[in-house]
Amino acid sequence: MKKYAITVAGGGSTFTPGIALMLLKESHRFPIRKIHFYDNDAQRQETIAKACKIYFEENAPDVEFGYSTDPKTAFTDVDFVMAHIRVGKYKMREYDEKIPLKYGVVGQETCGPGGIAYGMRSIGGILEILDYMEKYSPNAWMLNYSNPAAIVAEATRRLRPKSKILNICDMPIDLEEKMAYMVGLKSRKEMDVGYYGLNHFGWWHKIYDKKTGKDLMPEIKKHMAKNGFGDGISPTNQHVDDSWKETFVKAKDVFAVDPTTIPNTYLKYYLFPDYVVKHSDINYTRANMVMDNREKFVFGICRDIIAKGTSKGFNFEADAHASYIVDLACAIAENTREKMLLIVPNDGTIVNFDPTAMVEVPCIVGSNGYERIVQGAIPLFQKALMEQQVGVEKLAVEAWIEGSYQKLWQAMTLSKIVPSAEIAKLILDDMIKVNKDFWPELK
Ligand code: NAD
Ligand code: G6P
Ligand code: MN
Repeated sequence: MKKYAITVAGGGSTFTPGIALMLLKESHRFPIRKIHFYDNDAQRQETIAKACKIYFEENAPDVEFGYSTDPKTAFTDVDFVMAHIRVGKYKMREYDEKIPLKYGVVGQETCGPGGIAYGMRSIGGILEILDYMEKYSPNAWMLNYSNPAAIVAEATRRLRPKSKILNICDMPIDLEEKMAYMVGLKSRKEMDVGYYGLNHFGWWHKIYDKKTGKDLMPEIKKHMAKNGFGDGISPTNQHVDDSWKETFVKAKDVFAVDPTTIPNTYLKYYLFPDYVVKHSDINYTRANMVMDNREKFVFGICRDIIAKGTSKGFNFEADAHASYIVDLACAIAENTREKMLLIVPNDGTIVNFDPTAMVEVPCIVGSNGYERIVQGAIPLFQKALMEQQVGVEKLAVEAWIEGSYQKLWQAMTLSKIVPSAEIAKLILDDMIKVNKDFWPELK
């Protein structure tokens, strides 16, 4: 079996150790010869990388391990780039969440004005990494799960249409695990699903037992009506804290709006924005929770490993739920033709929707890329919501390309969770001030 070389872009991410260990754990089906970390923040990356280096020396001495901030070193001789960067880091996530809240608007990492602001930062960062990859390893694939994936995907569709980049999200993976548990199956892989939407904005419309063909929707709907996704279990340690639990239970109300489909949890921000704002604390948002918990925890373990010079006895764990990234890499490398949800140009997959929209739909993935599975025509409710949201995403990307203040104001105004053009402008003007190091200049 061929062995692969991987570069993890965003080496300093809180998810990097979990992903690196997961790659080792899955190496029986996806053999690795080299793992390299890349980040543009040397200091942040070093803490994660030094700890991982110790772990690799102790547990996988055959795998060549390295890290660097030099693009040539990081992107030469690579088969796959796995990208999870956060341009502006948590400090900017805090602004994404707190500025909208100041005006009574949902403050969220990927939804509404916060997501648009984050998108305006991410586009440049992702294009930069994609260009390094193509320069130094022209045959490599980039598997991107940096957010906001919807806007990043639209930007690469517009600006790098021929690039080998696939955008994927883990939310449907976790929700499918929860639904599999509800109906007594061991894994989401025992289900066959129909799904349509945009990233963080979609619905399941069919769920069958793969083996027997049994329709699982009636039973899943019963659980959704009672407890949302609250009846499911979380396969790993991600999405387990109280704020996530609340989101899973709130899906009950989101489901009630259209009980013919199962909604992605992120729809709560669009359908219940007043509820979300009421339950937000402008002085302590999700960014603060993540900094106080995941970031402290992951960096704390890394510092301990470095201080002791060994990873033995530390709770350094593979992120099992991230194995979907190996599924995707394997599908390309080994032509497994696995069915998975990807964010791709619609092109007729949802027959009554904009062919140029980047949609999240089931695809069959193999060594030549993906084939979309037609989802048919979608109902008016979903179609109308998606048209508005895809408009937001496209306007944001156009604003970035053209440096257009007007288009970014329109994007914010069009967002379902922003009540007026006036509030959109107030948020936008505050966002421009704090994002001056990251956004293109707007005229
Ligand atoms: P983090 O801030 O801990 O890590 C991000 C890293 O990216 C930082 O070390 C930062 O220095 C680095 N970075 C920023 N700009 C860069 C650039 N231009 N080039 C190279 N490196 C750069 O963030 P995190 O919470 O671990 O999340 C990382 C990313 O993964 C985010 O985009 C997050 O939204 C995304 N994410 C996506 C999914 C999904 O389902 N798609 C799931 C979890 C996290
Ligand atoms: C889910 C989404 C990701 C998002 C993450 C945020 O996994 O699919 O796209 O980045 O949640 O989680 P956090 O714990 O950082 O709020
Ligand atoms: Mn996601």
